Amino acid sequence: MRKKICILLFLIGLYGCGSNERVSKEVFEEVNKSMEVKKVNEADVIKEALKWGDEISTEAQSQLITALQNAIGEKGIPGAIEFCNVQALPILNEVASKYNVKIRRASHRYRNPEDKPLDFEELILDAYAYNLENDISNEPNIQKLENGEILFYSKAIHIPNALCLNCHGTIGKEISTETEKKLMELYPEDKATGHKLGDLRGIWSIQIPKKEVIKRM
Ligand code: HEC
Repeated sequence: MRKKICILLFLIGLYGCGSNERVSKEVFEEVNKSMEVKKVNEADVIKEALKWGDEISTEAQSQLITALQNAIGEKGIPGAIEFCNVQALPILNEVASKYNVKIRRASHRYRNPEDKPLDFEELILDAYAYNLENDISNEPNIQKLENGEILFYSKAIHIPNALCLNCHGTIGKEISTETEKKLMELYPEDKATGHKLGDLRGIWSIQIPKKEVIKRM
């Protein structure tokens, strides 16, 4: 019961972050490269961070999907698992360094132990899971970390289609014996199977320095 209330309060907080009335009217003065002082208000910073987070997560996702589809075409499903094992994190790191942000995927039911949720990601994952259970749509969100110096962008990752079930579905049903063998070999503690279409698979987690957002404004 207490946990439910906490999650509910958290959810209200979540929506608060997206809506302009509830964001304080604090104004930041930032000096940009040309030494001219920029006045930006916090609501606009959050809005810009949301927009940028959407762009970065879309780019990272399309890079992963393209690479995944190519790997499946060349090596089949079990071979593509090996490819994801080696390439998923480097692909994300490349996008991250292009934009000076940190990009991860996190999941309660992680396959790669690197994707185990950090404390601040756990709360968001719980909120997205609660929303899904209660038919509330999951919108991307910004939370402040480190006194607001870091803006934590998150976006829910659901299972959109049957392609995903080849590697995240039910063992013996969508997941073949050969695929299962490969998964056991590379991820002995795998928690990322047993999913159905529409399930919450995890989140995009992007840490954007406020400075970088202001530079773009
Ligand atoms: C060919 C098998 C394969 C397919 C198909 C596949 N995945 Fe994965 N997925 C993996 C592997 C392997 C990892 C672990 C990658 C790593 O080691 O970084 C992974 C990791 C993930 C993660 C990171 C969290 C975690 O569990 O570590 C998410 C989120 C994810 N997959 C979502 C999807 C979605 C959504 C689809 C469908 C669009 C999909 N996957 C299709 C094999 C697959």
